[in-house]
Amino acid sequence: MNGHGGVHHSAFLMMRRGAKGSFHFIKFIFFLLRYSTQGEHISFVYFCQCLKIYGEILLQMTSEEYYELILPYQDALNLLLGRLDVLNHSIYKDAACKPVHSFYSRIKKHKSLDEKLGRLHFDPTPANARAHLQDIASVRVICYFEQDAYQMIDALKRQNDLIVVNEKDYILHPKPNGYRSYHIILGIPVRYMDLTEYYPVEIQVRTLSMDFWASMEHRINYKQNRPDKEQVQAQLLKYADILKEMEQSFETYNENRAI
Ligand code: GTP
Ligand code: MG
Repeated sequence: MNGHGGVHHSAFLMMRRGAKGSFHFIKFIFFLLRYSTQGEHISFVYFCQCLKIYGEILLQMTSEEYYELILPYQDALNLLLGRLDVLNHSIYKDAACKPVHSFYSRIKKHKSLDEKLGRLHFDPTPANARAHLQDIASVRVICYFEQDAYQMIDALKRQNDLIVVNEKDYILHPKPNGYRSYHIILGIPVRYMDLTEYYPVEIQVRTLSMDFWASMEHRINYKQNRPDKEQVQAQLLKYADILKEMEQSFETYNENRAI
């Protein structure tokens, strides 16, 4: 169900949340009653604060819901990390020259999950998260050379039991701000006792220099409003070009170049 804001939104949420929503609502009424029967004056501001807290309780998933939701995503992520590790030591004939420098993986935090659903105008329910978010689980694969990044992507795509849900090549087609990386969302089969379910994992494959740029840009500019934004953006774009040039010259030292 789409969120429509305001009172209607909370009312919908409360109805949808059934017993859990009613429980919180009753708790809230008791909370107010306790103060009024104790003869304490409830100011309008205080009332609004209570209402806000109650609203916040409704506008997020419960911890139980969150932990139940992420469990299979964690399974999918673990399975994928195993495969990436195998590919890393088997992709080139000389196992000493591995393509990957490092892996980072994460499960989206409870707060970011609620916030992202909010940004997309969806209620913070596990069903909406499953239906509309494809980056609950993600892994960043940091390679030495651009060729290594493409080798890893190619090898992953050749694993015929994985499903390619979506892919964006920002290495070949960088974003206007200079961002470069390969994004691919794969459906990972998770086999339980008597059923197999696919869960999406977002994979970002990039080189060390792309990662350096993206990490700095993320820290100082991405989704931020700063007074000198235009100046910083122009500088970042210039650095992206310099890094690309440096990377291309390092590529001549790639011992796996001929493969
Ligand atoms: P998010 O809400 O940030 O997850 O973005 P999105 O889910 O709408 O998808 P998108 O493909 O644009 O970005 C996915 C992820 O790639 C982001 O979470 C960032 O980690 C990374 N990313 C995408 N664009 C940029 C960028 O311009 N700069 C940096 N530093 N990272 C980016
Ligand atoms: Mg994301």
